[in-house]
Amino acid sequence: MQQSRFGFSEVSKRTPESPISYFMQQAVENQDIISLAAGLVDTGSLPVQEISSALNDILGDPTKAREALQYGTTQGHLPLREKIAKHLASLDKSSTTFSPKDIVVTTGSQQLLYILSEVLIDEGDIVITEAPSYFVYQAVLAGRGAEVVSIPMDEEGMQIHALEERLKQIEAAGNLPRIKIIYTVDYYQNPSGRTLSLARRKELMALMNRWSNRLRAVIVEDAAYRELRFDGPDIPSLKSMDPENKFVVYAGTFSKPCSPGLKSGYALMPTELVRPILIIKANHDFGSSNLTQHTVDRLLENGDYQKHVLELQEVYGKKSRVMLEALESNFAAYPEVTWTKPTGGMFVWLKLPEHISTGLQSEFLKAAMSEGVLYVPGIFAYRGAGPLPDSEMRITYGDASVDRIREGIHRLKKAYLRVKDTKPAPARTASSPKPALV
Ligand SMILES: Cc1ncc(COP(=O)(O)O)c(C=O)c1O
Repeated sequence: MQQSRFGFSEVSKRTPESPISYFMQQAVENQDIISLAAGLVDTGSLPVQEISSALNDILGDPTKAREALQYGTTQGHLPLREKIAKHLASLDKSSTTFSPKDIVVTTGSQQLLYILSEVLIDEGDIVITEAPSYFVYQAVLAGRGAEVVSIPMDEEGMQIHALEERLKQIEAAGNLPRIKIIYTVDYYQNPSGRTLSLARRKELMALMNRWSNRLRAVIVEDAAYRELRFDGPDIPSLKSMDPENKFVVYAGTFSKPCSPGLKSGYALMPTELVRPILIIKANHDFGSSNLTQHTVDRLLENGDYQKHVLELQEVYGKKSRVMLEALESNFAAYPEVTWTKPTGGMFVWLKLPEHISTGLQSEFLKAAMSEGVLYVPGIFAYRGAGPLPDSEMRITYGDASVDRIREGIHRLKKAYLRVKDTKPAPARTASSPKPALV
């Protein structure tokens, strides 16, 4: 942070700037650049008609309109919470009834992640995340002064045996009480596109039961992309495997499956967390936008939301196939380049050979910018000690048209050809300086 006459707080000084804002700005300022970086949803399929008619219904009825234009409650509009409870049960095809009393409506799921960090984390507390993990949550944790312990992933998601090994090490060091949250983006993860398999979900819940009398941590199941499934099995949530509502905070959002402009999210949580969350949320905003909540309620009630999700599954399914085919044809001759194959969501995780950095100062990023394509450097998704993987990247088919997806991947290949024979650079470690933006 620059010298300033203002005395910034420690939280402000610790919180890194989001790398995504930089990439969004680049893409907005230069339309010739194809951005496979910014995590925007598909603009063309935003539900303009549906939201407009929901708003007309609300505002066309003076009684409903006055209710929606007044302040609501901090916890959120009860009819909406009731519908969310039913919706979650229907996603899990479960007869479990979730209680609206355990649901809090939030201003996007990002707000829940932040508020929960305020409720649970003191400086020096430990949060366990997948490696790689969601960039913006990493920034929240940095701001809170949390120590992040990263657990490696493979094609089935977080490696639960590695998690248990780390728990044992942390316990041996006397630090078990400092672990507050185990965070997983368990469907079509941002950034890697991977999903926690059913077997791993069962392992994780069995682990929580085994450790329950000494581990106080809560699992945060960030299911932001869950409903964008276009392939693969319909996997039940961790929440549905938590029948006593003891271990899991389920964070959901209407941003990805409906519209980020609504900025509406929700969380279903163990009952004892509800009050502390509401006390802190009251300080943030004493309730998320009431008009937005009524709008979402209307969309769920008249079925437009459910129809729209089905359309989006088609849209992203098609775009992901275009991206995967483009990767296969462009990189067929370069088996050293590998990538994930998502069955939902918006992201693909691409790995170059280890000696090629994809970071902000890298030759590869310069080559990509001059070819006119942007990605998010993978290093932003890692935290912790030791050399951090630096030759990976997140690319998304979220908002680019199919033609631009194809052209974008072609440009990435051209950038790769420019640098592929460069000499290996020394490994980056956590203690080496971070790029200017972090
Ligand atoms: C994994 C994940 N969680 C949470 C969010 C927050 O989304 P919102 O606050 O719009 O609900 C995002 C947004 O990109 C995300 O990718």
